[in-house]
Amino acid sequence: MGIECFFIIFTIWSSRHQLLSGIFLNFAFCLAGYHLLQPLLNYELISKTKNEEKLLKNQREVLNEINSLKNKINELEISLEQAEFRVPKTFPNIKFLNYKDRKRILVTGGAGFVGSHLVDYLMKEGHEVIVVDNFFTGRKRNVEHWIGHGNFELIHHDIVNPLTIEVDEIYHLASPASPPHYMLNPVKTIKTNTVGTINMLGLARRVNAKILIASTSEVYGDPEIHPQSETYWGHVNPIGPRACYDEGKRVAETLSYAYAKQEKVQVRVARIFNTYGPRMHMNDGRVVSNFILQALQNESITIYGHGKQTRSFQYVSDLVDGLVALMNSSYSQPVNLGNPIEHNIDEFAQIIKSIVNGVDSSIKYLPAVEDDPQRRRPDISRAKKYLNWEPKVSLDTGLRKAVEYFRREILRSSMPIIPQKLLKRGDKDLW
Ligand SMILES: NC(=O)c1ccc[n+]([C@@H]2O[C@H](COP(=O)([O-])OP(=O)(O)OC[C@H]3O[C@@H](n4cnc5c(N)ncnc54)[C@H](O)[C@@H]3O)[C@@H](O)[C@H]2O)c1
Repeated sequence: MGIECFFIIFTIWSSRHQLLSGIFLNFAFCLAGYHLLQPLLNYELISKTKNEEKLLKNQREVLNEINSLKNKINELEISLEQAEFRVPKTFPNIKFLNYKDRKRILVTGGAGFVGSHLVDYLMKEGHEVIVVDNFFTGRKRNVEHWIGHGNFELIHHDIVNPLTIEVDEIYHLASPASPPHYMLNPVKTIKTNTVGTINMLGLARRVNAKILIASTSEVYGDPEIHPQSETYWGHVNPIGPRACYDEGKRVAETLSYAYAKQEKVQVRVARIFNTYGPRMHMNDGRVVSNFILQALQNESITIYGHGKQTRSFQYVSDLVDGLVALMNSSYSQPVNLGNPIEHNIDEFAQIIKSIVNGVDSSIKYLPAVEDDPQRRRPDISRAKKYLNWEPKVSLDTGLRKAVEYFRREILRSSMPIIPQKLLKRGDKDLW
């Protein structure tokens, strides 16, 4: 079209500048030129279309190749799955129990930190274990070594909804346990500890199962007496940021004894103090995980407050022994399960620094956390007297195992793991 316009314009121009007799000559001349150029133009158009066709063909070929590769990958995945299924999975060794001694045991929150260690213990003892978990803070990875075992079952279920199942014993552990987790959705935390506990107590009543409730040292709040014995009623702020958990657990205890009195349910109540060990959350925001993470990544160790506040830490295998001893006992009043050896937070930071070799982490002090208890140490005379239980694992041994676990987890992660911040005095972002 461009070349035709050119000839027309050229003809008009020539008609203005030449005699009329030349117009015809000009026009004929231009027409001849146009016809001469026509094949050239056609060639240009044809080659353009050919190139486009070639490109489209190439694209089609690449797409076909991608599709056939995708099909091959799918086929490979299916045959891999089938092969895995054929190779028998090896499980940790378990004891054999005959049908009279073997119990069906439900562990709510069994995919969490403490729950998964308890599951290991019960499975190895030869019992049938059913884990119920909504995976809010728990992970399938914590119990994957049992998946497929004939004595093990994993149920994805939220205990706020009723559950019907036949069991002999219930370890009721389902509840977020660390402040950043339970403060994330305070209403859900209360529901889990109240409605969820009612559901589990109701189940225990229906099937006549013994039930152990995982309570907490948080029921003592910021204690005015030291160490804390089970007869102390506590000092809890009912409307503070921790109340959803502290008061939730206090109601769970109240419910347990109401069901025991009114419905004759056999209840056991464990008041658990700070526990640590492998499989604990990398980011649970508490002292142990924060300090280890910071030290392993050579970052400043952050202490909230002056560092003179105390904590006592128990290793997870000690807690599991205590929970099982309590369940098997005939003692129905609340029992503290914790390690009575007390350390202040400053000392603890130094211990972690000495275990994580070669770190150069400095210590950074931040404003105190709201409602953070100043002193925490269990009086475990009851556990000693009625369960013949006391912690065995030293802080040094336990911490070395925890540090190894954290080291491996950091290696698995492609990016640095930043410890959770805690709610400091004056923070309003969670309310
Ligand atoms: N770890 C400690 O230091 C400590 C201290 C005191 C008390 N406790 C108590 O021990 C129990 C276990 O604590 P943990 O440290 O293993 O915590 P965790 O967060 O690792 O485990 C809790 C488990 O409960 C599950 N869960 C939460 N809400 C649920 C719901 N509505 N339905 C079903 N599953 C649900 C989570 O997914 C998780 O697997 C908790 O009840 C906690 O309050 C723990």
